[in-house]
Amino acid sequence: MAAVRSYLRRTGPAPAPARPTGTERSHPNGAEPAIEVERLHKRFGDLDAVRDISFQVRSGETFGFLGPNGAGKSTTISMLCTLLPPTGGRARVAGADVVTERGAVRSRIGLVFQDPTLDEYLTAEENLRFHAELYGVPPAVLGPRLDQILDMVELADRRHDVVQNFSGGMRRRLEIARGLLHSPRVLFLDEPTVGLDPQTRAHIWTYIESLRRAEQITIFLTTHYMDEAEHCDRIAIIDHGEIVALDSPDALKAEVGADRVEIAVLDPDAAMGALKERFGIEASISEGMVAFYVANGEEFVPLLFTTSGLAIHSVRVARPTLDDVFMTYTGRTIRDAEASTVDHLRAGAARMLARRH
Ligand SMILES: Nc1ncnc2c1ncn2[C@@H]1O[C@H](COP(=O)(O)OP(=O)(O)O)[C@@H](O)[C@H]1O
Ligand SMILES: [Mg+2]
Repeated sequence: MAAVRSYLRRTGPAPAPARPTGTERSHPNGAEPAIEVERLHKRFGDLDAVRDISFQVRSGETFGFLGPNGAGKSTTISMLCTLLPPTGGRARVAGADVVTERGAVRSRIGLVFQDPTLDEYLTAEENLRFHAELYGVPPAVLGPRLDQILDMVELADRRHDVVQNFSGGMRRRLEIARGLLHSPRVLFLDEPTVGLDPQTRAHIWTYIESLRRAEQITIFLTTHYMDEAEHCDRIAIIDHGEIVALDSPDALKAEVGADRVEIAVLDPDAAMGALKERFGIEASISEGMVAFYVANGEEFVPLLFTTSGLAIHSVRVARPTLDDVFMTYTGRTIRDAEASTVDHLRAGAARMLARRH
C-alpha cells in the first residue's frame, strides 16, 4: 500500500465538487486559457528552481515543457497542480487559482506523476475504482466510464489482472487512464514515457494523440526527449528554471534560421564561387559536398537549380532539430546539459560520502 499512501499524500483529500467561485473570469468568446501563468517562482533554500516564468496554454492545446533534468519541469507541474505552493507569482488552471482555489483546480485536472504511483497488489480496475472514490465520481457514471477508458488504453481484457504482472508500458497506460477517469479539463503528464523502450514510447504517444481527439482536453506535458516535443502544438524550452523560448516546434526550428544544404557538384570551387557571387552565401566543403546554411532549404534548392547554372548531381537538405534550437538558446545540447547534471549529482554524492568517512 506504500504506493497508494504516497499517491494519497500527493493528491490530498477528495476535492470539493467544482462550483463556480465568483472569482472566475468570464470570457465572452469562451476562449479562456486553460492555463495562465504569471511570474511564477519557486525557491528551495538558496536554489531558484523556477524563475519568474510566464505563459498561457490555450484550451484544447497540447503544450510541452522541454528541458534537461533539473530544469524545473516537475516543480512547475507541482505548483500548477496545487501540490507545492509558489514562492511568487500566480497561476490559474482551468479557471481557478492554484493558491486560493486549490479544491476547484484539483477537481478539474488529471495528473500522471513522473514516478509510478499504482498499487501493484491491486488489479487495474481496483486502482481505477480507488481513484474514482477519491474524486467522488458518481457510481452511475463510473461503470461506463471505466469501460470507455480501459478500451481507450487497450487494457479492457486485463482489467482484473494485478498490476504486478503488467509491463512498464501497460502501467503507464493505466496511469494515464486513471488521470482521465474523472473527466478532467486539463491533463498533466510529467515525463509520460521516461524509462520506456522506444517502441513502447511510440505506443504511448499513439494513446496520447487518440485521447486528445476523444476527450478534447488540454494536455500539459514535460519531456527531455527532443523527438517527443514534436508532438506538441507549442513547446516552452526551459533551462535552469527559465523559459528561454516558446513557440510551435516548426516556428522554433525556423527561428534557428538555417537549414543545412549540401550539394554534390563536379567542380566544388566553381560552385562555391557561384554561391558567393549570386546569393552572397559562404559555403564550405564537407565530406566532398559543398555545404551551406539558408533560411528555407526546400525553397532555395529549386532556385539554385534554375538560376545557378551549376551541374548538380545530388542535394541533401537537413532541417534544424529541436536540439539545434536548444543549442541556439543555451549554447549547449540537451545531452550535454544532462551530462553536466549527472556530473553535478556525482560530485554532490562524492562530497557526502567524503563527509561520512
Ligand atoms: N523539494 C525540493 N527541495 C529542494 N530542491 C528541489 C526540490 N525539488 C526539486 N528541487 C531542485 O529543483 C531543481 C528543479 O527540479 P525539477 O523540477 O525536479 O526538475 P526537472 O523536473 O526539470 O528535472 C533541481 O535542481 C532539483 O534538485
Ligand atoms: Mg522532473
